[in-house]
Amino acid sequence: MEILHTVAELRHWSRQQRTTGQTIGLVPTMGALHAGHASLIRAAAASCGRVAVSIFVNPTQFAPNEDYARYPRTFEADCALVQAALAQTKGANVVFAPSVEELYPAGASTFVEVEGIGDRLDGASRPRHFRGVATVVAKLLIAAEPDRAFFGQKDAAQVAIIRRMVSDLRLATEIVVCPIVRDADGLALSSRNVYLSSDERAQALVLSRAIRQAESLAASGERRANALIEAAREAFASFQELRVDYIELVDWATLEPVENAVSGSLFAVAAWVGTTRLIDNTILR
Ligand code: PAF
Repeated sequence: MEILHTVAELRHWSRQQRTTGQTIGLVPTMGALHAGHASLIRAAAASCGRVAVSIFVNPTQFAPNEDYARYPRTFEADCALVQAALAQTKGANVVFAPSVEELYPAGASTFVEVEGIGDRLDGASRPRHFRGVATVVAKLLIAAEPDRAFFGQKDAAQVAIIRRMVSDLRLATEIVVCPIVRDADGLALSSRNVYLSSDERAQALVLSRAIRQAESLAASGERRANALIEAAREAFASFQELRVDYIELVDWATLEPVENAVSGSLFAVAAWVGTTRLIDNTILR
């Protein structure tokens, strides 16, 4: 599988595939790939003739006090995972692995800000995070010109930002959202799970437990946000070590809090387990 390093190479590849009638699927990642990413890559291969997987730890979505420097970088293992996920396909798929200077040339001063919505949920506790996400995803979409781009529901707020950006900028790419992939014990897969000690990993299960608690209450007919949030908060109560960042019921399109759940409402939690910030969510039906 070819590894491309420049925007010009990616654009050339994409346009060339298109001349042979292929559709293009893009899977943007920051590497440290796991089974969740593999599911995105397989979804892309199932619906597009050609797949590009980008691997780029995007500096602009990390605050200075965050984990940019220590974010896991596992490029060779990542390429092996991409290869395995695409093993059943025959086409000329690619990995796009640009340098920071390639995506942010010296003096670059253009950013994509999705106002309002970009300051909610994770955007509230990670100021400018979604500005970095929107900027790099815009750059990737403009470079690869994909028919579809694939994202995980685990980052549900990110999905809302990207959908809004794509709609506002009238980009031609369809955004496809794939289900959360969990370990057998319920923990949502995340590249940051490697930071957890074994004690912390056990504590981290409270996030999925809180989600399940809210889900089962909603399934029993409870619609009030307060009641659902309280049920989730109870799950956290016995773990004093964990610091809840947010537990919210919101409209998935606007990320505005709602008082009562309707089908499609996003119930989301974020919490610090030691020094690791984890997120989880469910879309209520
Ligand atoms: O979800 C991620 O891994 C990143 O936020 C993304 C979308 C690849 C942008 O850097």
